Amino acid sequence: MAIQQTFLMVKPDGVERQLVGDIVDRFERRGFVLKEAKLMTISEDLAKNHYAEHAERPFFGELVEFITSGPVFAMVWEGENVIALSRLMMGATNPAESAPGTIRGDYATTVAENIIHGSDSLASAEREIGLFFGK
Ligand code: TYD
Ligand code: MG
Repeated sequence: MAIQQTFLMVKPDGVERQLVGDIVDRFERRGFVLKEAKLMTISEDLAKNHYAEHAERPFFGELVEFITSGPVFAMVWEGENVIALSRLMMGATNPAESAPGTIRGDYATTVAENIIHGSDSLASAEREIGLFFGK
């Protein structure tokens, strides 16, 4: 397995609840390396582009509204198998199904506010890193 990079983002609920430090700490302790990070507010255009795969889903409007509702903490992380392992550390999309010990399983109860985003494949990691960090 090669060294990979992935895009992770603490969502507005996680920033509001002051979970940025805890989340960064989890990935550092796992052995991953933080390569880029910034606190930013997402524009409606960027939100729609980032979540374009969900454009036809019934929750799309609320998703865009939520992700633009306050600052997010956008990051690029690097390491062995980081794309799949960071998804495991995040837990299932729906926190009702996220195992305790995962980020969503420890801090969230509802799918609409599930604390963290992480790229789900090599292709989406490259796309999302480009969208947020311009490379
Ligand atoms: P998705 O890409 O399926 O999940 P993940 O964030 O684990 O990659 O969905 C993107 C986000 O959309 C998800 O984190 C929360 C929101 N969402 C809803 O609000 N309701 C839903 O039913 C689903 C599937 C997702
Ligand atoms: Mg996804």
